[in-house]
Amino acid sequence: MMNCLQSWPEPVVRVQSLSESGIRAIPERYIKPPSDRPGFEKQEHVDIPVVDLKNMFSHDHTLHEETLKVISSACKEWGFFQAVNHGISHELMKRTREVWREFFNLPLEVKQEYANAPTTYEGYGSRLGVQKGAILDWSDYFFLHYLPVYLRNPSKWPSLPSSCRDLISEYGAEVEKLCGRLLKAMSISLGLKEDYLQNAFGGEDIGACLRVNFYPKCPQPDLTLGLSSHSDPGGLTLLLPDHDVAGLQVRKNGKWITVKPVPNAFIVNVGDQIQVMSNAIYKSVEHRVIVNSAKDRVSLAFFYNPKSDLLIEPAKELVSEDRPALYSPMTFDEYRLYIRTYGPCGKTQVEFSESNR
Ligand code: OGA
Ligand code: NI
Repeated sequence: MMNCLQSWPEPVVRVQSLSESGIRAIPERYIKPPSDRPGFEKQEHVDIPVVDLKNMFSHDHTLHEETLKVISSACKEWGFFQAVNHGISHELMKRTREVWREFFNLPLEVKQEYANAPTTYEGYGSRLGVQKGAILDWSDYFFLHYLPVYLRNPSKWPSLPSSCRDLISEYGAEVEKLCGRLLKAMSISLGLKEDYLQNAFGGEDIGACLRVNFYPKCPQPDLTLGLSSHSDPGGLTLLLPDHDVAGLQVRKNGKWITVKPVPNAFIVNVGDQIQVMSNAIYKSVEHRVIVNSAKDRVSLAFFYNPKSDLLIEPAKELVSEDRPALYSPMTFDEYRLYIRTYGPCGKTQVEFSESNR
């Protein structure tokens, strides 16, 4: 299995270069089957919940409980919410997003120095999955390891723009802290000890990576997707979306809901590992990204993950005779090999592990 992850099955094409070449029709490789195309249905007047984190750990018991209740219902009903009053500097968020936009606007030769391979995925990439002939998504990305520290290698991070590495460190430290607080809130709201999820993730030894997505303008946005439907394989995702271009869609009752980004909010979503640990009380929900012909879009996804070689399984406290364990133990390393081989494909994987328990 590892062998087939050594290199890409065909020459890598940068989507941004395609976009900038001025083509009027997208290559066939990016055309999705009709059932997967955006469809641009009339937008429902619903959106994912917005959660004010100001009182997440308030000493006022009522305010604290109220916040946990909204988090809990968002994680059960949607698997997604937008977090405001999260405590992270808006200025830092903006600077970090803009430095990445500048990175993607650098000449191709500069970015190519960071070209990635499917062995670790670190660096500048244009596809997920190594299946020859696969239909591809309309995006490029940069992927890097933030934690554990021994995997962190700033020399693999962009040296240009010159403030990029410092900003990654500063931003990473802040979002890591926020993820820890969210995990605590989720543990309590599941009726577990406040450190349950953090400890089950490996305590101090968790994993974290950053994936910066760049969705270039697309001449035929109705035929393709920026990122195909998937659920995030890891623990918890903190997404910093573009400040003025929507694109993320979340699946709800079989329909796709386009998220309207609230200014300065983070989009938080439950990954497959929290669905497993919560024995499916919290849901890791399918999402995808649509593109448009008018504007590029940049987003930063920070993935807060369990230590890669720990066995992940439903919390004993959430397993009973009435509600047996829905999943058998598996390490995150083993789990994520699937998406790294086959690319994004809905929730087939977590469903697969359900049916094979
Ligand atoms: C992801 C993701 C959404 C977005 O990177 O896993 O779902 O809006 N990104 O870019
Ligand atoms: Ni995702």
